[in-house]
Formats: sequence, C-alpha cells, structure tokens
Amino acid sequence: MSDWPAGFLWGAATSAHQTEGDNRTSDWWSFEQAGLHFVPEPSGAAVGSYDRWEHDMDLLVDAGFSDYRFSLEWARIEPTPGELSAAELAHYAAMVHGALARGLRPLVTLHHFTHPLWFHEAGGWLAPDAVDRFCRYVETVVPLLGGVERVCTINEPNILAILPALLADEPAPGLPAPDRATGDALIRAHHAARALLRERAPHLGVGWSVACQVFEAEPGAEDVCARLAHDREGRYLEASRGDDWIGVQTYTRTRVGLDGPLPPPEGARLTLTGWEYAPRALGAAVRTAAEATGVPVIVTENGIATDDDDLRRAYTSEALGALREAMADGVDVRGYFHWSLLDNYEWGRFGPTFGLVAADRETFARHPKPSLSWLGAQGPQRPS
Ligand code: BGC
Repeated sequence: MSDWPAGFLWGAATSAHQTEGDNRTSDWWSFEQAGLHFVPEPSGAAVGSYDRWEHDMDLLVDAGFSDYRFSLEWARIEPTPGELSAAELAHYAAMVHGALARGLRPLVTLHHFTHPLWFHEAGGWLAPDAVDRFCRYVETVVPLLGGVERVCTINEPNILAILPALLADEPAPGLPAPDRATGDALIRAHHAARALLRERAPHLGVGWSVACQVFEAEPGAEDVCARLAHDREGRYLEASRGDDWIGVQTYTRTRVGLDGPLPPPEGARLTLTGWEYAPRALGAAVRTAAEATGVPVIVTENGIATDDDDLRRAYTSEALGALREAMADGVDVRGYFHWSLLDNYEWGRFGPTFGLVAADRETFARHPKPSLSWLGAQGPQRPS
C-alpha cells in the first residue's frame, strides 16, 4: 500500500529481556529465580535473540518492513554500579549499525521494564539518586545512537509503576494502580533524559511510550472513570507535552464502573492474555493521546495474543482501519509498530503468543507466520 503519509514508520517491536535470554544481572531475573507470584515461569534463554538479532532483522526486511523498535538492556550495559561493559556496549552498537545497514530505521527504547538488580536493591525509582543514575546510563549510551532518529526513554511508565504493588501483594484480580511516587520519579527521569538527549544528541526525536488503556465509563461512573484514567494514564500523557512524539501502546479497552476497572463483559471474546478482543480501541487511543499531548503519535505497540494467525490478521486489519479513520479525522500519526516481531517471554509466561514469527524454544529456529508477510505488505513502500 502506498497511501500512508510520506516517511510513515512501518515496523514491529521487541524488548531485550523478552527475547535475548539469560539477562542474569537484571531485577526480573531475580524475581523469576525467587519464583515470585507474578512470574510463574522464568525467562531462561527466552528466544535466544541475543545471538540471533541479525536473523530477526532480516526477517523484518524480507517481509517489507522499514522500521524496528528494540531496546537496550541497562542491566547488561551496567551490571554493577558505575562499571560499564565494553562488550555489551559493542553488542548494542552492532545492533544499531546492523539495522541501519539493512535499511531498517531503529527506534531505540532505552528502558523496557527491567533494571539492573543493583538499582532495584538500592531502592529502585524511590531511591534519592534514581533519576541521576538513569541519566548516567542514558549518557553512556548516547554514542551508540548515531544514525538513530528516534529514542523512547522509558516504556510504559504507567505499567512500570505498578511494580511496587506487585512486589508487595499477593495475587489480586486486575492490574494494580501505578504507585504515585514511582510514577513521579519516572516522569522526572523522562524529563531529565529528554533534556540530556537534546543537549548531547540533538538529532534524536525523543518521546516515551504510554500504555493507552481506552477507559470507558459505565453509565453513572463517568467521574470515577475520569479520575482513574488520569491517575493511570493521563498524567503520563501530559508529561509528554513538549516531547517530539508520544508512543501509544494499545491492545484492548477497559470498562470502568463505580468500583473501578471491570472485567470483560460476559460472553466477550477473549485473547490469550484474557483481555477483551477490541481491535478498534487503537483508534480511540491515538485520539486521546494526541489530544492530551499535542504532539505527533507513533503507535509503538499494538497486537494480539493468539494462536490463531487468521485472527491476528483480522484483529490487526480492524485496528489499522480504526487508525486510518483517526488519521482521516486529522490525528497526526507518524508510524505503526506491531507487537511483536516474535513470540517471546510475556513477563512471567511464554503462553500468550503475540508474534508475527514463532520461535522454537529448544532450537530457537524462527518460523514466520503468514501474518508477517501480510503485515509487511500493508505498509508504505520501503524507502530506497
Ligand atoms: C509491554 C510489552 C508486553 C506487551 C503485551 C506491553 O505492556 O510493553 O513488553 O509484552 O504489552 O503484554
């Protein structure tokens, strides 16, 4: 298809911990080894992407994509405080070069849910020097970002900020609310990193990605819903005012009643994550994000956990239809990244498969699903 705006980004996304494997110096690895209630299954070797990233990028290119969103792993780069791993810096530099050499524009996420274990043990985002430590890491990776056009500072701060509740509580239904103080620290970290990047790497377009949950009030619950939506999402979108772009990550909608979020309606079709099948939520999400931030939108994640690849295509085509309608109504959308390139480690389980490509967990062989080439062909022509 060629009727996307010029320069429209067309890609798929992954994150380091979910794909690379053996991320032993991270906090998540320690949660997994301790068998905490929210991580029933450990990531182990994940899908072996640490050694297979070239092949993964080739799959994207061959399918017609022009963009790839992947993350750098802070825990590997700075495994102990202040000590940098030259080998890991070289590894990620090679990934950036490898993408550019293939004609794939990298959108680089600096932080995707995981931290170095030492950062977590020092108090995580609530430690007084947390923002400074993050900025020191950001400064360290600036030299890797030559040729990169866009950087996402922090993935889903509004979901990352539920970590204190996960660590404190026994399992409870639904997603806990973000911890306010953690959220405040993440907002400060984003603003500090943005200022640093603008000074040190002015060629970069800086943004962050927010989980846009499309809160819908049940009759009578409008005020509850508005407050909840602001606390869980709106304040993170507002923090993006003045950014170069806002990343929208949407999978489903969330109904809200007088007592808070509600489960999917009786009889609704559910995906493998137990979320309601609601592909058109993407249209609502980009409208909300554009209005709250006033900056261009990039869909940095959208997809479905399913073992039925026909359903993946149906979902994605409806989501793209709703996206096109929003764009026709004037919402400034600059790109779309599908979550995910690969079936991967879904934060505690391998079961919910979001990938355009399946990965054998023993041999790590990649098996592209029909949706990979289908989606590749839906985008703009690759820039020559
Ligand atoms: C995250 C991904 C995750 C996806 C599906 C987003 O919350 O950024 O890491 O795998 O949603 O759950």
